[in-house]
Amino acid sequence: MEKIDIKKLSLEEKALLLTGADIWRTYGANGKLKQLFLADGPQGLRMIDTETNKPFNATALPACHVLANTWNKDMAYEYSSAIADECILHNADVLLGPGVNIKRNPLCGRNFEYFSEDPFLSGELGKAYVKGVQDKGIGACVKHYCANNNEYDRCYQSSEVDNRTLHEIYLRPFEMCMEEKPWSIMCSYNPINGIYASENRKLLNDVLRKEFGFDGLIMSDWGAVHNPLYAVKATLDLCMPHHKDYQDILLKAVEDGKLTEKEIDERVQKVLDLIEKSESNYSKRKISYTDEQRHEKAVEVAKEGVVLLKNDGDILPFVNVSDGAKKYSKIFFYGANVKKPFTSGGGSGKVETAYEQKPLDELVKNLSGIETVFMEESRFEPCWRAVFKQAYDSDVSVIAMGDDTNVEGEGFNRYTMRLSNEQEDIILNIARHSEKTIVILYTGSAVDMSAWIDCVDAVVFAGYSGEGANEALSNLLCGKSNFSGKLAETFPITLQDAFKGGRTFDGETDLYDDGIFVGYRYYDYENKEVLFPFGHGLSYAQFEYSNIRIVKNSEYDYEVLYDITNISNVAGKEISQVYVKDVSSMVRRPKKELKGFSKDYLEPNETKTISVKLDFSSFAYYNVSLDKWYIENGAFEVLVGGSSRNLPLKAKLNVQLPQDCQYSDG
Ligand code: BGC
Repeated sequence: MEKIDIKKLSLEEKALLLTGADIWRTYGANGKLKQLFLADGPQGLRMIDTETNKPFNATALPACHVLANTWNKDMAYEYSSAIADECILHNADVLLGPGVNIKRNPLCGRNFEYFSEDPFLSGELGKAYVKGVQDKGIGACVKHYCANNNEYDRCYQSSEVDNRTLHEIYLRPFEMCMEEKPWSIMCSYNPINGIYASENRKLLNDVLRKEFGFDGLIMSDWGAVHNPLYAVKATLDLCMPHHKDYQDILLKAVEDGKLTEKEIDERVQKVLDLIEKSESNYSKRKISYTDEQRHEKAVEVAKEGVVLLKNDGDILPFVNVSDGAKKYSKIFFYGANVKKPFTSGGGSGKVETAYEQKPLDELVKNLSGIETVFMEESRFEPCWRAVFKQAYDSDVSVIAMGDDTNVEGEGFNRYTMRLSNEQEDIILNIARHSEKTIVILYTGSAVDMSAWIDCVDAVVFAGYSGEGANEALSNLLCGKSNFSGKLAETFPITLQDAFKGGRTFDGETDLYDDGIFVGYRYYDYENKEVLFPFGHGLSYAQFEYSNIRIVKNSEYDYEVLYDITNISNVAGKEISQVYVKDVSSMVRRPKKELKGFSKDYLEPNETKTISVKLDFSSFAYYNVSLDKWYIENGAFEVLVGGSSRNLPLKAKLNVQLPQDCQYSDG
């Protein structure tokens, strides 16, 4: 189709172009324009077949919280590239993902769709995701802009958040994604500081377009527009889905002199640009994965995203990695997730897959040669004696527990961080009768394990690991693959330990009085014990850190070098994390912030030198007096290690920028 000239569209057509043609498509202006199909993500293609009104089957990849636990940027690229393939297959033009909202509240119903509590990790993975999609000629849509960190009353509750916190925490992943020039951004439902995201000119125009240099299209979340006139004034380009009144409202506004045709044209041009981008990138639409390879990708991501949280007495793996000897003669599996694990939380991101999951107990039996037995929980009159006998007769019990889509999903928050009473009882009772107990958790976010953690030997966080969960888990449990996932969010001990925003709402506003102290920044600042810290995850291998050195390239460009040695006889991948601490500052700063990471494969006894770059953003904070990012000269520390609470290496450096870009600090 030839490039469309805005002058060929009537005002009526232009007003229509600013809302969708239907739920998923843009307006076609009677065949003059290509209609773009927008389809959900972010954890696979969720696209409704307009003829049958049912979703197409697609690969159910692990949810993004599991992808985040891989800390693997290449994997994030391949993940979204595989989804883009399915977009190509079904003619979807824009994929509604990734979601880069920060996990501020462990109860948020949509945590499973988001990456992390940390803006740097979220931004790095978000960038890779955007690139993976767009390299295939499909547009990405980074969502939900912004400060949508709760599902409770998400459409109305105003997020009251100060400018520094917005910039350092909630906007930062969006800003980082700009590097990959996303074709579109989706605004969130919630008001921010009393103005709906869809009408928030300051955030859409002044920050996103001007400050961050975004030149793509801004669409609304589905139904997030309250008044299209205010939305257009705020520079929102596309109100989704179609609304029958919007054309009239906009035309009337022009007639009444409340809106100029120029203002409409500016927004229309963004829609035309998106259509043009989609057409001019059409030649990139080349499929690289077969159906089987996409499934394999789902397995691969799950293998790297499942996290081994606890493994007392090295009860895992079931088979010795070194000599292949079986450690047990009988394993008892309990819980419906063993047969068919939850692939995802509920809502618009849930992918329909045709893949028949293979039962975990059978896979383990085949891989290890160990006898397995299985029992499913029964809600009514469970015969506990039968359950206990199986637990008692086996060497190990594996209990699979988690939250279904009624507990975790879009549009509501969890009520508790704990498993249900029934599930906690099951764990405690089976553990009482078992020689050794392993719990596998299938939830979308942190779990309070205080009732049972001390009674079990091992805990595996599977999360929502998609359609390949059991293939991944069986390999990990049997030691055929090594665990290499680490938590992208803190697991506090109880909800009471989490910041108070996680517990109380007045039903009208959500006050972000925790400021920049979100996730580990909060637990560090308050010196709180946590159950499992941000960045934690065990491996069958063991790694030792040594020899940190810093190479200075400019006043704020540094290369951090350190060595990691695999001191075990098992090969594995280690995620090393680099945090920066401002030693003394005129403003309150977190005790440390993640500014770099690396995931590296090491053979037994191998040593590798790792290099991580630091730059301006590693040292700067958002100064509200200057309205910009600012580095205050002085001492900084670089801390390196395997989790946010295990940082054996430390190096000091002194940033001394020229005096003319500094202010007095004495
Ligand atoms: C969700 C978005 C989604 C859209 C379209 C909304 O309810 O918040 O994430 O992309 O629906 O399904």
